[in-house]
Amino acid sequence: MMQILRTVAELRTRVRGWKEDGRQVVGLVPTMGALHEGHLSLVRAAKRGCDRVIVSIFVNPTQFNNEDDLKKYPRSEDADAALLAAEGVDILFAPSVTEVYPPGFASLITVSGVSAPMEGERRPGHFEGMATVVAKLMGMTQANRAYFGQKDWQQLQVVKRMVADLNLAVEVVGCDTIREADGLAMSSRNVRLDALSRAQASGLARVMGKTAAAIRTGTDIAAALDQGREELRLAGFTEVEYLDLRDAAMLDPITRLDQPARLLAAAWIGGVRLIDNIAV
Ligand code: PAF
Repeated sequence: MMQILRTVAELRTRVRGWKEDGRQVVGLVPTMGALHEGHLSLVRAAKRGCDRVIVSIFVNPTQFNNEDDLKKYPRSEDADAALLAAEGVDILFAPSVTEVYPPGFASLITVSGVSAPMEGERRPGHFEGMATVVAKLMGMTQANRAYFGQKDWQQLQVVKRMVADLNLAVEVVGCDTIREADGLAMSSRNVRLDALSRAQASGLARVMGKTAAAIRTGTDIAAALDQGREELRLAGFTEVEYLDLRDAAMLDPITRLDQPARLLAAAWIGGVRLIDNIAV
């Protein structure tokens, strides 16, 4: 039966008990709630790979660079808890903000390089807040494996870099992006799209697929990206923050397809900012 825990002390006691019972492999799925099939696919991967599974729900204020986005972030803990219980999760860890950031809290993890472009440029402080809370959750849960969606590709690369640099004893597992039938990558923010924007939003995956195919078949990269940005505008995106081809791990810009590459995008539709990425 799933337990809902809110303090680090309770969590520690429970995990210590598991380890003493020989339940060695603990999996963590960190989330901010408003769960959808994308999160549940991470939970299922954790269930397959671990003896015990902890899902955290914590809307982490330090990774929001925009007050309004934090205020509007969807919250649905009861519904989330029911979904997680049905998946056979052992612990839902849902701490308060003061449990995670008690008075006097003063540490921040900066992962330079891979954090700098794209989301790092547009959302100052976002990756510091994210890396700090992920490191804290790893420490709190003593997890052996932690599961992240590839939908947030840059976040996944930042977490991998941090875990390697800080010698954290956690295996980071990146799982495939889960998509709606029309290709839209699942995201908790999708509920904020009105009907028209929701219909148009599928244009992001469609244009990205077309752009990636053009690059793969030898179209000049800069020309293919320009064309893709234009097609996004025609599809109804009011602002295309970026549509870029990058080295898949380091996220450096590339001008030739001679290494594993990723096409990444962020664009606005109906007042909602969507991001997506695919392998090229
Ligand atoms: O991807 C998210 O939902 C968040 O960035 C994470 C990893 C739960 C950290 O707050």
